[in-house]
This record gives sequence, structure tokens and C-alpha cells, in this order.
Amino acid sequence: MTILGIESSCDETSAAIVTDGVLRSNIISSQYFHTEYGGVVPELASRAHLRSVLPIVREALHEAQVDVSELNAVAATQGPGLIGSLLVGLNVGKSLSVSLGIPFIPIHHIEAHLFSTFLQDPHPAFPFLGLVVSGGHTLLVRVNGIGRYELLGSTIDDAAGEAFDKVAKMMGLGFPGGPVMDRLASQGNPRAHAFPRPLLDSDDYRFSFSGLKTSVLYHLRRIARDGVLDLTDTERNDICASFQAAVVDVLVGKAARAAVEHGIHDIAIVGGVSANSELQRRLRGAGERNGFRVFIPDLIYSTDNAAMVARLASLKLETNAEGTLNAPAFARIGDTLFDAHS
Ligand code: KG4
Ligand code: ZN
Repeated sequence: MTILGIESSCDETSAAIVTDGVLRSNIISSQYFHTEYGGVVPELASRAHLRSVLPIVREALHEAQVDVSELNAVAATQGPGLIGSLLVGLNVGKSLSVSLGIPFIPIHHIEAHLFSTFLQDPHPAFPFLGLVVSGGHTLLVRVNGIGRYELLGSTIDDAAGEAFDKVAKMMGLGFPGGPVMDRLASQGNPRAHAFPRPLLDSDDYRFSFSGLKTSVLYHLRRIARDGVLDLTDTERNDICASFQAAVVDVLVGKAARAAVEHGIHDIAIVGGVSANSELQRRLRGAGERNGFRVFIPDLIYSTDNAAMVARLASLKLETNAEGTLNAPAFARIGDTLFDAHS
């Protein structure tokens, strides 16, 4: 069973081939030009996807040494994401499915992230906890099986990655902010500033990062000289390290508590922020102390990619999911993914 996956939810066009559950190619084209605007510009993103999607699909087929006639199914991300961007991948996927007479499998972007650790061996066993930490989402999900997800909690304001990006922007560190802050934080003192740990002690699994971001903003305003922010390397690194420590304390604290409360032995952290080195180190430490295994996708599968889309499609087809062309693009996460009785 050979599946082509396409992902175009934000600013990365990606195509991948999975055969019998094994990844054979994963091509990603990032739209680096957004850096100069300090964020993704939706209309520019859609146009870039239009230009790159077919060459990327061809390259994925070529690298996997698969002819288009050998495909058994095609999958593409439906949402959540930027509508204009999603429509490009979705319609290319549907068109291929119609012209080749093979099923089209629509994929939920968050669900694909949840299964990105299934591109590796070993992977988590059901039931496992999925901590989804990306630029747009922060969720803690109990994954009982394919299609059986219980939402334990999510952010009430900013996503973890969004907080990294906004704080980095305030400090003039460019976009996206996570990777550069991660690097600078490794040279700073995480105890230099006592930034808040929002909702860390609430007895639920909700998250909040907007107040933490504002607290860094106030700190930056305080230390600006005549309104100009001119940080020394030490000041900059200490702020990065202290901010990162606050985010990591909250994420690790809640995930570890959920694992213990639910008696769960496996945790997968997925999405762009799972690449954060301090988050990885601290969650692994919590796993050793509390007796749970930690699964983290390889860097290339933590940020947006089509490998996870094709892999999830293969898992769905194994459970006899059927294709459909009746799959609209959607911008927001919605509540269709989660079922309280799952
Ligand atoms: O999953 P992703 O590629 O895109 C979304 O679906 O949102 O996540 C992108 C996010 C960005 O906010 C970026 O700053 C963050 O992941 N990120 C990181 C790191 N690498 C990427 N955040 C913290 N530390 C990192 N090393
Ligand atoms: Zn994503």
C-alpha cells in the first residue's frame, strides 16, 4: 500500500511517500521570505504553495522511486491552518485521487502531529498522552486509539510557540522565534528573572501564555534606556533562559501530572516546540522520576511535514477508513476531533 501525503497548512509545502507504513521520501519547501515581514503573510503563502506543490509532489515520487500509477491512496491536510494554503494541497490531492481512481483521505493537521512519533521505532503504545505544542496550538490529549481522542486541556489564549515567536519579536530576534531563543537560552541563567508560571497550579489541564508574554514585555520596557532596547548578550540570554524555563515548567508540570493521574506510561510531545532542547531534557527527567516513556519526533518531523500526513493516512487505511472527496478546508481546530466518550 503506497500513499502520497501532501501538507500545505501554513508556510511549508511538503509531500511524502509512505509504503506499508514505512517512510520513503519527505520533501519540504519552507517559505523563508516571511522573515522580513515578521510572520507569515497568508496571500503570499498561498501563491508560493501554488508554485511549489506540483514540483514537490514530483520530487517526493522521484526520491521514493514510485511512479504515480503505483499510488494506492492520496492524503492531504484539511485543516486547521490558512484556508488559501490548505486549498492548494487539498485540491491537488483530490484531483490526483479522481484522475487515478484511488481514495482520497482528508487529514486533520493536529491528528497528524499526534502520530508524528509513529514514523519512528519504537513508537508510543495506546493509550498515550499527546502534548501538542506548535505555533498555533497547545493541547494535552489522551490518545486511546486511531480516531479516539480525549481532550484533557488546551490554551485559553496564546499557544506555546506563539509566545516564543512574540517574545522573540519584542527582542528583535526574528521569526520564527523558538529555535533562536532555544539557542540563546542555553547560554543564559534560567533563574535570572522570576517570570510567572500561568495556571501551573490550577487543578485542570488548561494552559495560558499571554500573561507570561506581557510580563516579559513589561520587563523589557523597564530596562529600555530612553525607550531604546539595547540588551547586552548576558541580559538577552538571561531573558531567553528565564522565559523558556517558565514555559517548560508549565508544560512539563501539567503533562507529568496528567500521566500520573491517568496511569499512562507513554507521552509523545509533538509540534514545532517539541524541538525545544530544554523541554526535551526536562520531560525526559520527569519521565525517569515518574515512570513514563517520552517520545519526541526527529526534528524534521516536529515542524510541519507531509510524512506525518502520509503515515496517519496509512494507519487510517489499516483500520479500514474510507476515502471521501467531501472534505472542506477549515481554519480552526473545531471540536470534531475529540469525543468525551472515546
Ligand atoms: O508545528 P509547527 O511547525 O507549525 C504549526 O503548526 O504551528 O510549529 C512552529 C512553532 C513556531 O512557533 C516556532 O517558534 C516553534 O514551533 N519552535 C520552537 C523551536 N523550534 C520551533 N519553539 C521553541 N524551541 C524550539 N527549538
Ligand atoms: Zn503544525
